[in-house]
Amino acid sequence: MSSDDRKSNTGSTTSTGAPAPSDRNSLTVGPDGPILLHDVHLVDQLAHFNREKVIERQPHAKGAGAFGVFETTEDVSRYTKAALFQPGGKSDLLLRFSTVAGEMGSPDTWRDVRGFSIKFYTSEGNYDLVGNNTPIFFVRDPMKFPHFIRSQKRLPDSGLRDNHMQWDFWTNNPESAHQVTYLMGVRGLPRTWRHMNGYGSHTYMWINAAGEKFWVKYHFHTQQGMAFFSNAEAQDMAGADADFHRRDLFDAIARGEHPEWALSVQVMPYAEAKDYRYNPFDLTKVWSHKDYPLIPVGTLTLNRNPENFFAQIEQAAFSPGNTVPGIGLSPDRMLLARSFAYSDAQRNRIGANFHQLPVNQPQVPVNTYMFDGPMAYQNSGDAPVYAANSGGRPWSDKTGVMDDSWESDGEMVRCAYTLRAEDDDFTQPGIMVREVFNDAERDALVEQVSGSLLGGVRSPVLERAFEYWKGIDPDVGRRIEEKVRAGAASEPAAGMGES
Ligand code: HEM
Repeated sequence: MSSDDRKSNTGSTTSTGAPAPSDRNSLTVGPDGPILLHDVHLVDQLAHFNREKVIERQPHAKGAGAFGVFETTEDVSRYTKAALFQPGGKSDLLLRFSTVAGEMGSPDTWRDVRGFSIKFYTSEGNYDLVGNNTPIFFVRDPMKFPHFIRSQKRLPDSGLRDNHMQWDFWTNNPESAHQVTYLMGVRGLPRTWRHMNGYGSHTYMWINAAGEKFWVKYHFHTQQGMAFFSNAEAQDMAGADADFHRRDLFDAIARGEHPEWALSVQVMPYAEAKDYRYNPFDLTKVWSHKDYPLIPVGTLTLNRNPENFFAQIEQAAFSPGNTVPGIGLSPDRMLLARSFAYSDAQRNRIGANFHQLPVNQPQVPVNTYMFDGPMAYQNSGDAPVYAANSGGRPWSDKTGVMDDSWESDGEMVRCAYTLRAEDDDFTQPGIMVREVFNDAERDALVEQVSGSLLGGVRSPVLERAFEYWKGIDPDVGRRIEEKVRAGAASEPAAGMGES
């Protein structure tokens, strides 16, 4: 708006559409007297301001995103009938990136896992793939998830983040070793969101038109090339520009540089899961690429910034439970728990009718029997509100075995997954350290862990952390212990606690 426009503007309105009296001066008794309660416009402004935030996401509070498109360039129709993944299939989408542990205002460049959440607005309804920039996760039972997140957040007394608490959790849960190694390694600090990969992480099900089922893992490879920050660069950036990743994405898209990711999947025939050498539903494991090579699917492009951050990013609601025909979940118990947790968080965070907000609405007509509630906007008019009905309103009635199901049987128990021949916590992170990292990356890992990260960690957690790293790789573990002990000897008070 130009300054001329400002002079000649026709004014704002109240929320009820009447001309607003003034957005600059409240109603007072004379120029120097008290303000009046019947200044409805002022009272509205203050009252609404008090309510203008929604609860931040717990976890993944800090993030941003953009809109784009997915195009299926290959033929994977023998694995899935999902319209989105048919040759030539196209779908609009929203992708939100995030950090996990930090709060809404926290720096983008803290070492942390990054979220990679996609909402595909497909012709068969919304399909959400809520993944990370890592193909694995810290724990394999959802019971541990709230404990895990709390251990990465803040101490109850000081409100500070705390290495001791983090390592206490990790070393008490050695299944975390693979994800922790990934996080402490070179890929743990992406330079930008544009320069990192995304993964579905869990094993999902695909179902083809003939009803055959497959297990799949999603890999989104950045076409910008991977790029990372060193610790020092990331630390400087955290101070210089806490919103560096948010700004980088927004500015790149505004300049017309549209980032792209190539989607490939690993596909395991349904029956092979039963006796694969390790549990293919264990979220702390990757699948061997020799056993299940990558199969290309298509390209994801981000090409449009949000016009309104709050409406389109803050109120965006993703859930791994939102699938479409041709795609299903799997026996991964983390995934099954997530299929409940997200929509529940959103009912609490945004409201029971969060799915009616424009960013969350599918592009296809909705005929749901969930109705009314706070802020209900869409409704079914005078159509019957119950099923079955004789009023002609359609309702669903599938019975028997579902397309996207699997067999299960047994007593109800509380226990870990049954171990398979090659199931253990340290083999895969050991391979990462010895075969994926080069010498410089191994040195950086030792520096990283023995430097800032074990600072403040006290006995007996510190000794457990040494054993944890020796379990991953004896040599790396020994080097970490030597470095930490040498640092402690030269600086007796630093980080060794009472041990
Ligand atoms: C049992 C395990 C888990 C539970 C209970 C859980 C729960 C949650 C909840 C409640 C939120 C906030 C949702 C919102 O307010 O909109 C969230 C966000 C998120 N979670 Fe999880 N989570 C789990 C595991 C995972 C895993 C394994 C991944 C990745 C593979 C993941 C990726 C994300 C991402 C990317 C977000 C941010 C979503 C967004 O961009 O809005 N979570 N999680």
